[in-house]
Amino acid sequence: MIDCRNDSFLPAVRQQTRALHDQLEELVGLDRLTRSRADYGAALRRFLAVWHPLEKLLEESPLRDDPGLDLPRRLRSRALLADLARLGDPDPAGTAGAGLRAPWSSLDTPRAIGVLYVLEGSTLGGRLICRKLDEDLGITPGSGASFFAGHGPDNAAMWKSFLEWSETALAPGGVAEAVEAACTTFRFFLEAFRTS
Ligand code: HEM
Repeated sequence: MIDCRNDSFLPAVRQQTRALHDQLEELVGLDRLTRSRADYGAALRRFLAVWHPLEKLLEESPLRDDPGLDLPRRLRSRALLADLARLGDPDPAGTAGAGLRAPWSSLDTPRAIGVLYVLEGSTLGGRLICRKLDEDLGITPGSGASFFAGHGPDNAAMWKSFLEWSETALAPGGVAEAVEAACTTFRFFLEAFRTS
């Protein structure tokens, strides 16, 4: 049961997902991620198996046509596919096709906002990950790290515009559902990284 002490999305979702984020950060493991090209490739395949089904749901959700959000610009499965191809993966599209089963069959607006919070928020740690990929493996956004580069120099502006948009798009009655969906999304990632 989600304990929302106020009806504002951001403080509630931050509070409720902090521990899940930290578990995921540890499970992904920055040192493991950049240990070798093979480890990095394996992590990208895991991300794709989760990311692709979630983005498909977002593309079919009411967020698809929201002019204040610009969902297409925020989608990053294609960057994952491109990075895997640059690393020499013979069948990145096959990995996408074999994506894991998402926790929902469709998303209403509050749930979609919760899912997108997790996907967009991952760009915040991306800078750190990109720096380490370059230092440890010599992989740059142009040579296989475009997924973690996120929206590149626009990361901060894209995050800010997402947060501002979410506060208007989410009615107070939808906050608990959105927060629950963000928690479920983090658990979906945890499951994928635990079982592989
Ligand atoms: C090694 C892996 C990871 C590291 C080192 C990492 C690091 C970070 C850091 C440093 C921040 C805070 C940035 C700031 O406040 O400016 C952050 C925020 C965040 N990260 Fe991660 N992260 C990792 C993995 C992930 C993954 C896999 C996801 C989701 C799929 C994720 C989702 C988020 C979210 C949603 C926030 C935003 C929290 C907020 O401020 O509302 N992170 N991460």
